[in-house]
Amino acid sequence: MSDLNDLFARNRNWAAEMERSRPGFFTSLLSQQKPRYMWIGCSDSRVPANEIIGLAPGEIFVHRNVANVVVHSDLNALSTIQFAVERLQVKDVMVVGHYGCSGVQAALEGARIGLADNWLRHIQDVRDHHRAMIETAPEHARANILCELNAVEQVLNVAQSTVLQDAWSRGQDVTLHGCVYGLHDGLLQNLHMRITGNDGIESIYREAVAAIGRTPR
Ligand code: CO
Repeated sequence: MSDLNDLFARNRNWAAEMERSRPGFFTSLLSQQKPRYMWIGCSDSRVPANEIIGLAPGEIFVHRNVANVVVHSDLNALSTIQFAVERLQVKDVMVVGHYGCSGVQAALEGARIGLADNWLRHIQDVRDHHRAMIETAPEHARANILCELNAVEQVLNVAQSTVLQDAWSRGQDVTLHGCVYGLHDGLLQNLHMRITGNDGIESIYREAVAAIGRTPR
């Protein structure tokens, strides 16, 4: 039976190293968190938010689920976004897809994997919405294209949420971004889905989708 002793030992080493390199680090975080960024990403163990962008505890507020989906009725995601935007006043919310996402792959193929099929149905909607682009692409590129389209589509969902609509109506300075992460090289790419307010959301979305379609594969 596992007792996690190895993890507790690793944790003690990590905490000691943090305190050694940045004395007072933990006590400085005690009073309040004030992260500038929110990350909405996949639960995949290969896509850890803080490590990828080199940020310490306290610097990024994170929500992760299977295949980085934001559904208008998902109280978990919406509550997290609301807390980040209204309470923490984050400046940037990034939706980060990743290549090699098994959730996206299953959605692309229509594979049946169980309960999660119902969750991945949202990505099948993305696939169906952009069927022409995906079907005319070379077969080896289709999963990557759907990973990118899914990230862009989820940024649109965040933009259309009451949380962001209300924040922008109040004049709050908060920007949405769509990105995709490469498991093969560790690099983040900007998908040019950058939304800063209620105006022009549709045209930004259409241009981001068109840019995905124009990318050589
Ligand atoms: Co994934």
